Amino acid sequence: MSILNASSAQGFTLITGATSSIGMELALERCKGENLLLHGRDYQKLMELSDSLSTRFKILIWVYDLSKVDSLYEDFRKFVSSQDIVVERVVHAAGQLKILPFRAVKLVDTQSIYNVNVFSIIEILRVLTSKEYRRSLQSVVFLSAFFSKFGDKGNAIYSSSKGALNSLVKGLAVEFPGTRFNSIILGAVRTKMTDHLFVSGADKSRFDRYILGTGSPRDVTHAISFLLEPSLWMTGQEMFLDGGASIN
Ligand SMILES: NC(=O)c1ccc[n+]([C@@H]2O[C@H](COP(=O)([O-])OP(=O)(O)OC[C@H]3O[C@@H](n4cnc5c(N)ncnc54)[C@H](OP(=O)(O)O)[C@@H]3O)[C@@H](O)[C@H]2O)c1
Repeated sequence: MSILNASSAQGFTLITGATSSIGMELALERCKGENLLLHGRDYQKLMELSDSLSTRFKILIWVYDLSKVDSLYEDFRKFVSSQDIVVERVVHAAGQLKILPFRAVKLVDTQSIYNVNVFSIIEILRVLTSKEYRRSLQSVVFLSAFFSKFGDKGNAIYSSSKGALNSLVKGLAVEFPGTRFNSIILGAVRTKMTDHLFVSGADKSRFDRYILGTGSPRDVTHAISFLLEPSLWMTGQEMFLDGGASIN
């Protein structure tokens, strides 16, 4: 963890999985206007990212493997308290995808997917909704997925973990009316996670339903920035961002 740049702003935007294709693009965009708390499990990658950001705002990094949820709450609480910061916005971009026929799935696979996709953000939000930090927390955005709404072979576990996020925003929106909670039902975007679906030889017919074609990380950061707007009149919602795939 380190402070790399000087700043004038107070609160921070936490990006989990800042080393993701979408997380990195988001960091590039958001560092223009606010302090960032970049999360990842790889210190080197996070340092390279923070070095590449040209900003007058503060950049902090928090290194943590989200599959280890047992000690996450304590680690994150200590980190935030030791840095004497408040987190105003959260974007949960970390995610784990594992496509496996259901009968081949082991408990350890399910636990790992749920730890990274769901339990980690619950633990983080348990800290940020505590009495000490609740008032500072303005907006939370989850990156959910198209297949949390539709069936896909071999994808039941990942899809159900994203479905949990869709439900989570509703309960939290009601329980904490001072904060906006929304999820993005994200269609196919070419990233490290999905690259294997785009390479030559892969069956591209799965993208036929995308009226506007598949998305780019930039398309996603635009939507996230909309959901992070301070005056947004929207909470507890699932926003489809899928190039029209869901209605075709
Ligand atoms: N791309 C799509 O088509 C698509 C569609 C729907 C939803 N999404 C969601 O969008 C989000 C961003 O995905 P992406 O496409 O940009 O994928 P990506 O590039 O593969 O990013 C995944 C991120 O999660 C992090 N991560 C994975 N396991 C972790 C762990 N145990 N501890 C800490 N961090 C961990 C990765 O860290 P490392 O860099 O260290 O691996 C990386 O930062 C994910 O939540 C994904 O489920 C993507």
